[in-house]
Amino acid sequence: MGHIAVIGSCAMDLTVETDRRPGAGETVMGRRLIVSPGGKGANQAVAASRLGAAVYMIGCVGDDSYGQMIQDNLEANGIDSRYVTVLPKISSGTAHITLAEGDNSIIVIKGANDLVGRAQIDQAWPVIGNADMVLLQQEIPMDTIGYCIHRCKEAGVPVILNPAPAADTPAEWVEEATYVTPNEHEASALYPGMSPEKILIGHSRRIIMTRGKQGAAYGEDGKVVCVPGFSADPVDTTGAGDTFNGALAVACAEGGRLEEALRFANAAAALSIQKIGAQGGMPGRTEVEEMLLCRK
Ligand code: RIB
Repeated sequence: MGHIAVIGSCAMDLTVETDRRPGAGETVMGRRLIVSPGGKGANQAVAASRLGAAVYMIGCVGDDSYGQMIQDNLEANGIDSRYVTVLPKISSGTAHITLAEGDNSIIVIKGANDLVGRAQIDQAWPVIGNADMVLLQQEIPMDTIGYCIHRCKEAGVPVILNPAPAADTPAEWVEEATYVTPNEHEASALYPGMSPEKILIGHSRRIIMTRGKQGAAYGEDGKVVCVPGFSADPVDTTGAGDTFNGALAVACAEGGRLEEALRFANAAAALSIQKIGAQGGMPGRTEVEEMLLCRK
């Protein structure tokens, strides 16, 4: 396998664990604060790297202590961060996460992620243009994402677009990307009023819908193919979608069949939710392969 290029957000996640979410105007006591690396781009890069891929991260951080922690973490996970630009006079991205009642809610402050521009794509083109898979999400400016997808399409470089968080994703991006991986909510933001079946069948083997513990689904020959998920006791589901995308990129870059690649990605995502933090539970290759063997 060659390499994977991830263009996207890098952040620090500030997670508060609490028994219940406060209502408007209410104060509640939390159990603890956890500060850990996150950002959908960096999460997907870490997921792919732990599964054995050579990964380049392309993005921006601020010239602050979070920026340094983010870079150190990328390097500790074996990711090449030479195309992560450190920007002066701006904060690194942060995500403010409340973990309560078995689910998370997230407010993202983009910070330096909002300045990932066409220049970053041009600078990193030597690694993007030769990648076996390019991974994009929607926490950086939409103009940059569109520019990157168009350049990759022209150059014949395969792209996975994870349209998260939901935004006004142009329909042409879906046609230009190799795979688009919305969850059910993001899929209905992409195609309002259309049923999941119609979306999947109308974008055969291109749109892959993630369905949490139920796994993933895609359309083929006028039918919906469901690839079941693996059961796991969830501790923290933050980053499960990112693990899925990172793992899917690895399996596709290795030339695996789509159904097998989705089984691999489902297994990685199930393992990832068993520990706290977006990256805390992201598995290594052996763990995923053991799960796939045990649960044939
Ligand atoms: O997908 C999970 C990620 O979304 C978190 O790590 C947080 O940074 C938010 O951007």
